[in-house]
Amino acid sequence: MLKAWFMDNETTDQCLEHHRNPPELIASGELFKKTGVEHFLIDADNYQNDKVLQDLRKKRNYTYEDEIACSEECLPDYANKLKSFYTEHLHTDDEIRLVLDGSGYFDVRDDKDNWIRIAATKGELIIIPAGLYHRFTLDANNYIKAKRYFVGGPVWLAYNRPADDMDCRREYLKHQSQGFAHLNKV
Ligand SMILES: [Fe+2]
Repeated sequence: MLKAWFMDNETTDQCLEHHRNPPELIASGELFKKTGVEHFLIDADNYQNDKVLQDLRKKRNYTYEDEIACSEECLPDYANKLKSFYTEHLHTDDEIRLVLDGSGYFDVRDDKDNWIRIAATKGELIIIPAGLYHRFTLDANNYIKAKRYFVGGPVWLAYNRPADDMDCRREYLKHQSQGFAHLNKV
């Protein structure tokens, strides 16, 4: 089950949950309508043979894959990397992540510029569409291992906000105004 909620405005420790008071949860259908973020459940222990993942990769042509582990021990230049992950940005390509172990938070902006925090745990595959402002942080467990997928080659470039004049941003806003209907076809 996807766990997502609207964030409070506190600037304290980014690894905390940052629920509003009272908490305002958001279901995956609503999250999709507002942001275009998609969410799938995958068998993380046997992901190579997972039918949902296989279909998705085939239909959307996710030909490139690699794996990343984030923790103080296994990520070089850990503090700076985490800082850049948590700086609000967008990409020209979808950000596709499958959590194999550990957990973390993907924060995305909704249509009214609120932050929505998505708790990603083992077996969850999250797709953040190109052109959507977002950021990532580890949670209090301080560890995540994830697969990353791309169409063709990997695109690591992040464009910090503001990036409103970029084509991918304009395209994203167009899709948003159409309720991301194009994604139901792929
Ligand atoms: Fe990103």
